[in-house]
Amino acid sequence: MHLHRPIARPLHWRTRTHPRPLLGRTTVFRPSWFWDRMAVRYARMPIADPAAYETKLEKTRAYLRPDSRVLEFGCGTGSTALVLAPRVAQVHAIDTSAAMLAIAREKVQAAGIDNLSFEHTTLTDLDSPAGRWDVILGMNVLHLLPNRRDTLARAHALLKPGGVFISSTLCAADAPLGLRLLAPLVRALPLLPRISSLRLEGLTAELVAAGFEIEAQWRPARHKAAFVVARKPGRLDA
Ligand SMILES: C[S@@+](CC[C@H](N)C(=O)[O-])C[C@H]1O[C@@H](n2cnc3c(N)ncnc32)[C@H](O)[C@@H]1O
Repeated sequence: MHLHRPIARPLHWRTRTHPRPLLGRTTVFRPSWFWDRMAVRYARMPIADPAAYETKLEKTRAYLRPDSRVLEFGCGTGSTALVLAPRVAQVHAIDTSAAMLAIAREKVQAAGIDNLSFEHTTLTDLDSPAGRWDVILGMNVLHLLPNRRDTLARAHALLKPGGVFISSTLCAADAPLGLRLLAPLVRALPLLPRISSLRLEGLTAELVAAGFEIEAQWRPARHKAAFVVARKPGRLDA
């Protein structure tokens, strides 16, 4: 059904090219219907590592103030945005999956939270003035993006000087050898989202190249998603 649904916006259906050593350059069609189809299941899934998630939330809260404006991209069903919204002035959360956003909106309505809004877009397409946000969050999404460098550059532009970009990112190239050997097989499955082969050192280097200073990094184990806080140089107004 989703396959034949009228297309609301072109960002739903992105075509991209990436190198495959054995097959040459292949154009792969990976629309967001993977996440649309996953949405209900994703919303029901228990958090894989609740202790690590709680630690990341706690570390994130340290950067929030009652007057903070927070932008989250790849918000999924809005769980993190919902937890953080009561602590700040505003949260705007965006995602490319309409089904994820529909669940997020239902959860916000049920919770009666009125400072949390959602939008169907990407960070690079978002219509927002530069320097507007105190905090930008990208939780479990950077490793899924074909345009990660553009996204980091946009995050930097959208933050106020002194603002922070907080991310949690799977660094698949740091995984144990057994898992890394499986990666080409997983990557060959055409319907799964492509996971970048990232190392934590590579990610922090990309953040620095985008103009950030690395403020903190933590991960519960080498093969688990890495939490990184990167600051746009400058001082937030007191
Ligand atoms: C693994 S889920 C993470 C959801 C949520 N942040 C969490 O931690 O539970 C990845 C999410 O990123 C979204 N996504 C994928 N590519 C995106 C893009 N270019 N811009 C915004 N969201 C994107 C997917 O639709 C999905 O909801």
